[in-house]
Amino acid sequence: SPSDPDLVERARAAKEKLGDKVFVLGHHYQRDEVIQFADVTGDSFKLARDAAAKPEAEYIVFCGVHFMAESADILTGDDQKVVLPDLAAGCSMADMATAEQVAECWDVLTEAGIAEQVVPVSYMNSSADIKAFTGKHGGTICTSSNAERALNWAFEQGEKVLFLPDQHLGRNTAVRDMGMSLDDCVLYNPHKPNGGLTVEELRAAKMILWRGHCSVHGRFSLDSVNDVRERIPGVNVLVHPECRHEVVAAADYVGSTEYIINTLEAAPAGSKWAIGTELNLVRRLANRFADQGKEIVFLDKTVCFCSTMNRIDLPHLVWTLESLAEGNLVNQIQVDKETESFAKLALERMLALP
Ligand code: 13P
Ligand code: SF4
Repeated sequence: SPSDPDLVERARAAKEKLGDKVFVLGHHYQRDEVIQFADVTGDSFKLARDAAAKPEAEYIVFCGVHFMAESADILTGDDQKVVLPDLAAGCSMADMATAEQVAECWDVLTEAGIAEQVVPVSYMNSSADIKAFTGKHGGTICTSSNAERALNWAFEQGEKVLFLPDQHLGRNTAVRDMGMSLDDCVLYNPHKPNGGLTVEELRAAKMILWRGHCSVHGRFSLDSVNDVRERIPGVNVLVHPECRHEVVAAADYVGSTEYIINTLEAAPAGSKWAIGTELNLVRRLANRFADQGKEIVFLDKTVCFCSTMNRIDLPHLVWTLESLAEGNLVNQIQVDKETESFAKLALERMLALP
C-alpha cells in the first residue's frame, strides 16, 4: 500500500544517500505520502522561482506535472537534471493548446490584420513549445498568482492579449480583477476554422481567450456554491481562478493554491470555509486546521482529484530516488535548446514582473 512503512523507509534512505545531490520540489496538489519528502512545496509560481534555488543539486525531482518539470529544466543550469517520477503525469489543460494549433491561430490573427497589436500571455500550464511561441512573439508567462500583473504588463506592450490556454483564468482576471466586461472577451476555438470567430469579432476584442479549461476545476458549479451556502451558514467560499466564471463571481475569495493556504492560515478560529480546488490539498488543509477550530470543507459533494497529479505516488517516488541513488538517471525531462531559449525569455519576463 502507498503508506507502507517499508516504502516510507526506503524513500527516506534513498534520499539520505543522495544528500545534497537531490532537491525535491512538491506541488500542493501532491499526495501526502509524496509531499512529506518535498524540500520545498509551493504553487506553480513559487516552484518555478525556487527550482533554481539549489544550484549544487545534480537532480531536481519534480513531484508535480510535466509542464512544471519542463519549466524547471528551462530555468535551471545545464548540469542540473530534472526528473519527473512518472512520465505520464501530464496536464489535460496544457494538452489543449498544441504548437500547430497556436501557429495556425497566429496566422488567423495575421490575416485579420491584428497580429501586431496582440501580445500573447500564456498560463504556466502549457507546454514548452507554447512558452517558446510566447517568448518569440514578445509575450510573457503567468501563473494564477500573477495573472493580473502579467495582463497589465501585456496591455502596456499592445492593445490586445491572446490568452493561452485557460479561458477561465483569462476571463476571470480580465473581468473580476481588471474591470473589463465579458464583451471584451472572445473565445478562440482551435477546432473551428478561424477559431469560430469573424474578423470583426477579432478586431473588436481586447482579450482573445483560448478555448482550454481544467476538467478538475470545471466540476465546480454555481450550484455547488449555492448548496454549500445553504448547508453551512456563514461559510466563506474560496476558489481557484481556474474555476468557471460564474463560480468565481459567486465566491468570496479567489486565488492560487499558495493564496488559499495563506488565507486559511490567517483565518480566525471558528471560521468556516468551502474550498474549490483539488482534493489532496483541501483534505490536507482540513486536517491541518481542524484543531484550530477552522472548519474546512470541499466545495463540491463529489470527489475531485487531479488524476495526473495523483500519478506521482510513493512507489514511483521510491523507484525514482533509489534509481538516482544507484547512479541511474531515469525519467529526465529535457527541453531542446532552441525551444528553451525562447521559452526562457517568456518565463524571465514573468519572473521580472513588478
Ligand atoms: P497554482 O499555481 O495555484 O498552484 O495552480 C496550479 C495548478 O492548477 C496546477 O494545475
Ligand atoms: Fe492540469 Fe487541472 Fe490537474 Fe492543474 S488540476 S494539473 S490544470 S488538470
